[in-house]
Amino acid sequence: MSPGSSAATARPDIEKQTWAVTGGARGLGSCLVRHLSDRGARVLALSRRRGPDLPGVTYLPYDQSDETSIRNAAHLISGPVDHVVHNAAILGDIGGLATLTADHLAEVMRINVAGPLLLTRALLCRLTPNGTLTFISSRAGSFTEGHDPDGDYAYCLSKAALNRAVAKLADDLPHRVLAVHPGWLATDMGGAVAPDDPDLAAQRIVSLVIRTDGPETGSFTDTLGQPILP
Ligand SMILES: NC(=O)c1ccc[n+]([C@@H]2O[C@H](COP(=O)([O-])OP(=O)(O)OC[C@H]3O[C@@H](n4cnc5c(N)ncnc54)[C@H](OP(=O)(O)O)[C@@H]3O)[C@@H](O)[C@H]2O)c1
Repeated sequence: MSPGSSAATARPDIEKQTWAVTGGARGLGSCLVRHLSDRGARVLALSRRRGPDLPGVTYLPYDQSDETSIRNAAHLISGPVDHVVHNAAILGDIGGLATLTADHLAEVMRINVAGPLLLTRALLCRLTPNGTLTFISSRAGSFTEGHDPDGDYAYCLSKAALNRAVAKLADDLPHRVLAVHPGWLATDMGGAVAPDDPDLAAQRIVSLVIRTDGPETGSFTDTLGQPILP
């Protein structure tokens, strides 16, 4: 897609688009990459390791805990980028207050919050005017809806901070910026008992991003665009 295309015509034309997806070799990220490849998009999968070879997919080395790696990955991207999906994250310690440490909290914040923000900054010069930035967040980051008995202090705090970052970016940038809760997914993070299918979540996230009547910038929603209270 050329940088000057209008939102109404360009967003659904997925086979002409370039998508950057972090954590693209495992879990929800790999489902996003596969779905986008199936639909003919050019996909830049930013990942610590390579996933399967798929049409239109390029894997770029990317460690979200490492500022140099984030900058290097962005430097490897030469053309325009239409959509960025910040998917990579860690759950971290789930032992509750008893096992929380300041170092661990800092590590989770570094990967789940600082990394996506630094990558956003590094990719802004590549993002098309109608481009979008989607941050895969979690209901766990909601003050209102995120009440569950898990001991994931660092993760909850990181997703709450990420949601605030999305609202801040939406104030500061002309692009559409979204926070999306993907559901409770049957991935390594969600566990085998999780009820939601990551492939379906990936399809819905892509549909949500390209919808011309999609959620307004700064929104925090589920994969169908239903608002989640902050
Ligand atoms: N699963 C759920 O139920 C659930 C619920 C709510 C929100 N979410 C959110 O959905 C997103 C995807 O989660 P998932 O379920 O797919 O998790 P997952 O199965 O644990 O996969 C995590 C992904 O993040 C990548 N990652 C972790 N640390 C990284 C680092 N330092 N640098 C680069 N990549 C890194 C992993 O890459 P490697 O393969 O290199 O480790 C992997 O691709 C996350 O943002 C998560 O918070 C998930």
